[in-house]
Amino acid sequence: MKVMYLAIAVLALASSLASAYDPSPLQDFCVAVNGTKDGVFVNGKFCKDPKLVKAEDFFRHVEAGNTSNPLGAQVTPVFVDQLAGLNTLGISLARIDFAAKGLNPPHTHPRGTEILFVVEGSLYVGFVSSNQDGNRLFTKVLNKGDVFVFPIGLIHFQLNVGYGNAVAIAGLSSQNAGTITIADALFDANPPISSQLLSKAFQVDKKVIDYLQKQSWYGNN
Ligand SMILES: *[C@@H]1O[C@H](CO)[C@@H](O)[C@H](O)[C@H]1NC(C)=O
Ligand SMILES: *[C@@H]1O[C@H](CO)[C@@H](O)[C@H](O)[C@H]1NC(C)=O
Repeated sequence: MKVMYLAIAVLALASSLASAYDPSPLQDFCVAVNGTKDGVFVNGKFCKDPKLVKAEDFFRHVEAGNTSNPLGAQVTPVFVDQLAGLNTLGISLARIDFAAKGLNPPHTHPRGTEILFVVEGSLYVGFVSSNQDGNRLFTKVLNKGDVFVFPIGLIHFQLNVGYGNAVAIAGLSSQNAGTITIADALFDANPPISSQLLSKAFQVDKKVIDYLQKQSWYGNN
C-alpha cells in the first residue's frame, strides 16, 4: 500500500513537472480556430483542419508601436491571439518601442521567461528576485545587439536611457505568457481594491492610496 502511495506521489510530481510550462505539442501544428467549423479537436484545443492550413496562418507583420503615450513606450505582442499558428508551440514574442526616456513599467509574465534583444538604442533594464531570495535587484544597461533574460514570473522593467528612440524584441517561452503591470493591477483593479487594505499593505496614509487610485493608469500592452 505504501509503495502504491509513493508511486502515486511520484506520478503526481512527474505530471506537475511536465506541465510547469506550455505542454509539448502532439502534432506538427495546431492553428487555433474559435469553433469546430473547419476544425478538429486535438491535444485539448480546437485546431484548424491541417489540410486547410496555409503559410498565412504562421505569418504576421509588426509595425512600430505608437509611443505618444504617458509612458513613452508601447508593447506590440505577437501572442497566440495575434498569430493563431503559435497555438501549442510554447513560444511568442513582443516588439517594444521606446521614445526618448520611455519606460516599459514594472510588470511580470506569469507564464513565460523573456529573452530581450536590443535592436536600437540603450536601455536600463532590471528584474527583482523573489522574497525568498531577498528581493535582489539585477540591472544592466543594454546597447544595440545586447541580450538580457528576465526569468519567468519575476518583476522586470526597461527604461530608455539613450538620446533617441529605442527598439527591442522580446522572445517569450509561452504562446500566451500573460502580462501583469504592477501599478495597474494594484491601483487600477476593476473593481478597485479597498484603499484601507492598500494603505496597510504599503504602510502609507490612505490619502496616498486615494491619490494613486485616482490616476489614469495607461496600459502600454
Ligand atoms: C477568436 O476570437 C477572438 C475574440 O473574439 C479574436 O480576437 C480572434 O482573432 C479569433 N481567432 C480566430 C483564429 O478566429
Ligand atoms: C499616436 O497616438 C497619439 C495619441 O493617441 C495620436 O494622437 C496619434 O495620431 C497616433 N499616431 C499614429 C501614427 O497613429
